[in-house]
Amino acid sequence: MELNGTSAIVTGAASGLGEATARALARAGAQVVVADVNEDRGKEVAADIGGHFARTDVTDEESVRDAVAAAATAGGPLRVAVSCAGIGWAERTVNRAGAPHSLASFQKVIAVNLTGTFNLMRLAAAAIAQTGPADADGQRGVIISTSSVAGIEGQTGQLAYSASKGAIIGMTVPAARDLSVIGVRVNTICPGVIATPIYKSIAGTGQDAEEFLARLAAPVVFPKRLGRPEEFAQLVLALIANDYMNAEVVRFDGGIRFQPK
Ligand SMILES: NC(=O)c1ccc[n+]([C@@H]2O[C@H](COP(=O)([O-])OP(=O)(O)OC[C@H]3O[C@@H](n4cnc5c(N)ncnc54)[C@H](O)[C@@H]3O)[C@@H](O)[C@H]2O)c1
Repeated sequence: MELNGTSAIVTGAASGLGEATARALARAGAQVVVADVNEDRGKEVAADIGGHFARTDVTDEESVRDAVAAAATAGGPLRVAVSCAGIGWAERTVNRAGAPHSLASFQKVIAVNLTGTFNLMRLAAAAIAQTGPADADGQRGVIISTSSVAGIEGQTGQLAYSASKGAIIGMTVPAARDLSVIGVRVNTICPGVIATPIYKSIAGTGQDAEEFLARLAAPVVFPKRLGRPEEFAQLVLALIANDYMNAEVVRFDGGIRFQPK
């Protein structure tokens, strides 16, 4: 899929993986809608890449509808939607004091990570369906969702997060089949541990943060470090560029496998 002269929407594009993806798409010639709840950072990223900012809460129907409409009218045909909006959450099913996981926090993580991903997928697909075919195969667009290796093997003490990410994987094949009639491919990426601000709140600062990040990187097989957001964006662009990649769930993790603690 050629990106030059097309439009794209990226949720969570004010930070981390989404920001790197928005920047890479813009460098490839796409008009990018930066869709995020973080207005200050989102506007900065959009201004930097010559794109548009749309204040977006992925859990909200109208909000995502408006952001997709902005992408559909940004210039070229809407061809790409990438879901990177997400939140981390650490809470045990029953904690050491015997208290059960909060239902409200479980529902919140599912709402942002899973329902938010589905919300973009369905609304972007409907908008992409309105465009003409881009090539002789009848292809119209590509949708990429961000899961996590936690969605495959689960992560200790992160039940809600793992459940939300596992269900994103579960949507991949049925969505690809449903959307094949409109020429849309669907792929999901499962990152391992990538250096983004998502770890800021738990990593702390200074020496503590360095030790925390070193512990995170320790089980990575090779290269022995955290992944870089730019490397994630490179994979997004590769999945878009290769027209035969469809209904695929791709690990992006330097060989890490999460172990029970
Ligand atoms: N960084 C990692 O190691 C890693 C690993 C596996 C999966 N992931 C997933 O990758 C995605 C991106 O994570 P990141 O590391 O770039 O995190 P990040 O915190 O740097 O960025 C997430 C972005 O999502 C936005 N966001 C949060 N809730 C939103 C909402 N309701 N509506 C719209 N935007 C919202 C935030 O404002 C932020 O800009 C997440 O889904 C995360 O779970 C990250």
